[in-house]
Amino acid sequence: MSQLQIQTKNRKFETAKDLYGIFFEDISRAGDGGLYPEFLRNRTFEDSLLPDGYEEKGDGVHVVTCSGWEDEFNNGEGLSYWVEKNKIAPTPIPAWYAEHAQMELERKDTLNANRSAALRVHFEAGGYVYNTGFHGIPQKQGEAYPLYLFAKSDRPVCLEFSIEEDGYQFAQSRLTIGGEGYVRYDTILVSDGDCENASLVIRSQEEGEVLFGFISLMPGKTYNGHGLRTDLVEKLKGLNPSFMRFPGGCIVEGSTLSTVMMFKNTIGPVWERPGNLLVWHYRSYNGLGYHEYLQLCEDLDMEPLYVCNCGMTCQGRRGVLLTDEELEEMLQDTLNAIEYALGPVNSKWGRQRAAMGHPAPFRLTYLEIGNENWGPNYEERYQLFYREIKKRYPQIKTIANTHVEEHGCPVECVDEHFYNNVEFFTENVGYYDSYDRQGPGIFVGEQAVNEGIYSGKLYAALGEAAFLVGLERNQDIVRLASYAPLFENVNYDAWFPNLIRFDNHRSFGIPTYYVWRMFGKNRGKYVVESTQESDVIYRPMKGMASLKAKKALHYRNPIWEGAPAAVTHELMGHVKKTGEEFCLEMPDEQQKEVFLNKMRWADAEKSFVIFGEEDQTCGRFEVEVLVEEDLAFEIGVFSARICRSFFDQLQETEQDAWHAVKIRPFLWKIKDGKCSFGEPAFPEDRKLTDDFTIDAAPGEYHRFAYETDGQVIRLFVDGVLQKEIKVPSSPSFISVVTETEEEIIIKAVNMSGEVDPVNITLDCDVETLYTVTLLTGAKDAENSFEKPKNVRDRMISLRGAAESFVYEAPAYSVSVLLLKKKA
Ligand code: AHR
Repeated sequence: MSQLQIQTKNRKFETAKDLYGIFFEDISRAGDGGLYPEFLRNRTFEDSLLPDGYEEKGDGVHVVTCSGWEDEFNNGEGLSYWVEKNKIAPTPIPAWYAEHAQMELERKDTLNANRSAALRVHFEAGGYVYNTGFHGIPQKQGEAYPLYLFAKSDRPVCLEFSIEEDGYQFAQSRLTIGGEGYVRYDTILVSDGDCENASLVIRSQEEGEVLFGFISLMPGKTYNGHGLRTDLVEKLKGLNPSFMRFPGGCIVEGSTLSTVMMFKNTIGPVWERPGNLLVWHYRSYNGLGYHEYLQLCEDLDMEPLYVCNCGMTCQGRRGVLLTDEELEEMLQDTLNAIEYALGPVNSKWGRQRAAMGHPAPFRLTYLEIGNENWGPNYEERYQLFYREIKKRYPQIKTIANTHVEEHGCPVECVDEHFYNNVEFFTENVGYYDSYDRQGPGIFVGEQAVNEGIYSGKLYAALGEAAFLVGLERNQDIVRLASYAPLFENVNYDAWFPNLIRFDNHRSFGIPTYYVWRMFGKNRGKYVVESTQESDVIYRPMKGMASLKAKKALHYRNPIWEGAPAAVTHELMGHVKKTGEEFCLEMPDEQQKEVFLNKMRWADAEKSFVIFGEEDQTCGRFEVEVLVEEDLAFEIGVFSARICRSFFDQLQETEQDAWHAVKIRPFLWKIKDGKCSFGEPAFPEDRKLTDDFTIDAAPGEYHRFAYETDGQVIRLFVDGVLQKEIKVPSSPSFISVVTETEEEIIIKAVNMSGEVDPVNITLDCDVETLYTVTLLTGAKDAENSFEKPKNVRDRMISLRGAAESFVYEAPAYSVSVLLLKKKA
């Protein structure tokens, strides 16, 4: 049973007006073929082209940037995984195929200076080319689909355009191409039936040659007629978002100057917009650009939050600094973007906006300087952007990526990102409780349970809801929050999980979607004082023991639960046995290379071995280590955070499914008698106890032991207890209370597998009838195309609310209670 005492008379502060929003990034083909419903993949014929600063690696799969960052490219098809799972047939020009016709990329005679390729097709009589879209083209009976193209031909060629699936033509139209230079041709295809996996076929009954400069096929019906896919925009609307962060994410940063997102490339007629190879392994044609984002914000009444590149490429991808000249251009590009949104029609960029059909200024409320950038180079660039933006547009609220205020920079708000497992989120409900109230505002711009077996399932959504409760409790400093990533085309997934999953004609929200919807729709005006008591859930203790060192380490007699323990995974380095003694040697060059190729962020300068199996649980691990002066080593056990995430599953086929960067045991770090105990966390390890010293003379073997019953961890050296540490835990019931003048809003998460009768007491009268919006189900319940609403919020009406009453919070649930105040 939990207790919740609510003091409405004690209003803590107003809720943050824009707290809940969305973060759109073009990842997992969220843009083209998704929110921007172009049906034709490679509509610019440029997908196989490499941008400046990129080179083929020579294996037909990978490319390498000038700074050494390696990625999969597959001649523009993207990840090898997509090629395999979508059974993409080889073709030199991605998504385009020919029968009785010859295709060739034309690199000189292109449509305009921003187009780097055109498609030259020599048709034999009856020959055709076809485009397979984003895993097929869908059509609905009776609906109209505008098709337009820019093409030329020395002599007139009559082309038949049809939508075909399994030899059946759902729609047809004809256009005669001819004349001097590129000409725009328009037609409309009206389908006589439903299909999901069709192709656009372009056929000529006579022999002839045509040069295609650009071609597009899109639905006639889009949200508000503004060109975006209706079901997806409606899903966004359902979240009641107050702001939209765009366009990224890592895509803003790019991995070379040529792949950085710039405002100037995303406005104007779509066929004139240069494309961008995105760091998420495919090219965007930028039809979904700055103007479209602002329009979407206006359509859904969201405050725009634009993220600009700040003069450096993605630091997580071997980032490079832009030259002074390029930096200046980037700054100017950002200032131009602002003017495009806010400037009057007689300003240079305001005029461009008007030319795009929007004479009135848009809103542009927030501007984030960089994405996930840090360090002295960032600080320098941040200050430059901050100064120049604020000088001209003092009303824009700027956002920094890191706490640069600690180094003297002026900061209004800082964007913090959290990707972790369920335990992290539930254990950190109080994360912002101790933040400096005088410090900058906080934007939790990216957050998701993306580790562990519950990713994308109900239990993950509960953990995320618990964390959101923590944000709501701290709305005096937490001003904005969004989940990431927002969208995923299931046929091109580059990340997991994602809030809204779709294919070319269907979409559904994962359980987390409903949490954000429930929270986004029920915000209240004030956060009121409340106290709660409940049971405790200890973090599950599960995993193996490990030894890690920065140089060769000698050990003997490793024992798990009283029995000799063997090394089960030589993750880095090799173990050699001499008599009773083992030597954990540093990795050789070959091992380092294999390791780093698989896990780019891992530290290859350490030796690292694992004892035992994954399902090993609580118990005792002991090992004798030869302590040496200056030897830093770590003993780790109970890897509660072992990951079976999407990326692990990808690796599963490789010889070693173990993903060292995901193994996060509790770590006992020892060097020269000084110890710390904690767990890895970003940006720095989290300490679970004060540092302590041990008596372990160098040059001798000492017995280190580690023991736990699942609630307490005990550390021993030579049989003497050194520390007793509480296993991290979280309350089973987590709640926050807000109110309006009329209503009290209780958000309550029950993380336990039992119904929790919550004893609620209030300091005011309420109507007996109340409503609850409820999300509940099996711990591992999830949604799918087959069962899109398997886990969803439901509204129920209940009786019995009073100054003191019991609400039975179902097992594994999120509840939003609306209590009506009595007049
Ligand atoms: O949301 C996916 C990526 O995660 C974003 O691009 C980046 O900002 C973060 O690292």
